[in-house]
Amino acid sequence: MIFTVAIDGPAAAGKGTISRAIAARFGFAHLDTGLLYRAVGAKGGDPIVAAQTLSPEDLARGDLRTLQAGQAASRVAAIPEVRAALVDFQRRFARAEGGAVLDGRDIGTVICPEAEVKLFVTASAEVRAHRRHAEVGGDYDQVLREVVERDARDAGRADAPMRAAEDAIVIDTSDMTIDAAVARAAEIVAARLG
Ligand code: C5P
Repeated sequence: MIFTVAIDGPAAAGKGTISRAIAARFGFAHLDTGLLYRAVGAKGGDPIVAAQTLSPEDLARGDLRTLQAGQAASRVAAIPEVRAALVDFQRRFARAEGGAVLDGRDIGTVICPEAEVKLFVTASAEVRAHRRHAEVGGDYDQVLREVVERDARDAGRADAPMRAAEDAIVIDTSDMTIDAAVARAAEIVAARLG
């Protein structure tokens, strides 16, 4: 069976948790596409070459989850040649036999517009900054500034900007528990699977 669940949205909205839970529940493979851009940003040197030569070791680095790595990812993600180098891998993953969940910014719009389920998971910038702050600590105002800055860069870039596909279902997790958000997503997937 070929069945793709595309989950897009801004950082710290709950995409990762929802994606992992959906993949586990339905037995689908999961790809966190943000990790690809984080690895390109962290690799250093020419980002286009980094994207073209990305290896499993690059994706296994221990420092890809930091705020800094997120900002670096967002900068290299605006370079069209970097995005182009990562398209085929993501498309193959999305349409491989057995079902797949991909989370990112452009999965439902660019990588897999034919996805059987498209979700756009979002939350207010303040709620997302609080969540990130609880994870990484530091100065809350600084975390909020970085969240707002990254959203603006991701939504404002010319190539594959972050946005909900026209046929995406929006889940706003600002006032939802993570369990409720997962349950809502699972209900949508189950309905589409019939
Ligand atoms: O989701 P995550 O926070 O790990 O993504 C890091 C950055 O990678 C995002 O801010 C965005 O700039 C970029 N990204 C992207 N397209 C994707 C996934 C991530 O541009 N599909």
